[in-house]
Amino acid sequence: MNVPIVRTISDLRRIVAEWHREGARVAVVPTMGALHEGHLSLVRAAVDRADRVIVTLFVNPKQFDSATDLTGYPRNEAEDVVKLAPLGVHVLYAPDAAEMYPQGFATTISVGGVSEGMCGAYRPGHFDGVATVVTKLFLQTGAHLAFFGEKDFQQLHVVRRLVRDLDLPVEIVACPTVREPDGLALSSRNVRLSAPERQVAPKLAGILFDTARRIEAGAAAEGALAEARRAILDAGYDEVEYLELRGADDLAPLAAADRPARLLVAAWIGETRLIDNVPVQYASGGIGPKI
Ligand code: PAJ
Repeated sequence: MNVPIVRTISDLRRIVAEWHREGARVAVVPTMGALHEGHLSLVRAAVDRADRVIVTLFVNPKQFDSATDLTGYPRNEAEDVVKLAPLGVHVLYAPDAAEMYPQGFATTISVGGVSEGMCGAYRPGHFDGVATVVTKLFLQTGAHLAFFGEKDFQQLHVVRRLVRDLDLPVEIVACPTVREPDGLALSSRNVRLSAPERQVAPKLAGILFDTARRIEAGAAAEGALAEARRAILDAGYDEVEYLELRGADDLAPLAAADRPARLLVAAWIGETRLIDNVPVQYASGGIGPKI
């Protein structure tokens, strides 16, 4: 099935108004394109849950903190359309930057709390850019449901907070991280890895999962995180930006997994920054019965 491409807010609004009149349940899957199986898993989940599915494709300049990252971001709309064609998507909404941010655009949505620390600390303005464009996409698409990946765990929390705080009438659905068979989380940025870097890359996920198991078994978080940092560097990564244990529900920093938690990391191989995260189940302290 060919996927119609819509470029303007007015065309999109006309289509969605008709869907709303029919009583259809509308879903949106926001993306920046260069689609891979991670994105497609969100699209499949959306098609399962909604009557009409809009995939958005917009490489949002406001969320890039580096000009080279923005210009080097992979773009291939023609291939993206081919990937979406068999999935039952109803519209690909791909506005250009002038449609999204016309001359004089001056509004920023800034989410506090969960935006701070981790990616928020290392990528100034990034989550403001995400929150601003996601708010616009929700308002433009009029979607009842919106699908996001756990791969970008902090982003997921920023979006949930935003929706609650601004009373946006959209339900956020989180989908699990899709990985390569060797454990590497799929990312549009993986194409930038050289062959030797690609060999090193999956070790990050392996170390994260091992560290999560150790913390679940009662290892003190501080020591386990310090060892994991060393292991990531020994594996061939060039820099660990952050490696943190946070509450799964609120992203509060944790010293131990005394409630459902998440281990989150950002690390560099050469010129490529990769992020990943894994769940850490509630640990009873490693001794005594689990309750
Ligand atoms: P992008 O990086 O294209 O990701 C689009 C969606 O796909 C996000 O919700 C992301 O979490 C999800 N995703 C990416 N890799 C995934 C994987 N391996 N498994 C599961 N889901 C995965 O995230 C953005 O774009 C932008 O910030 C956006 C929300 C579109 C706003 O511009």
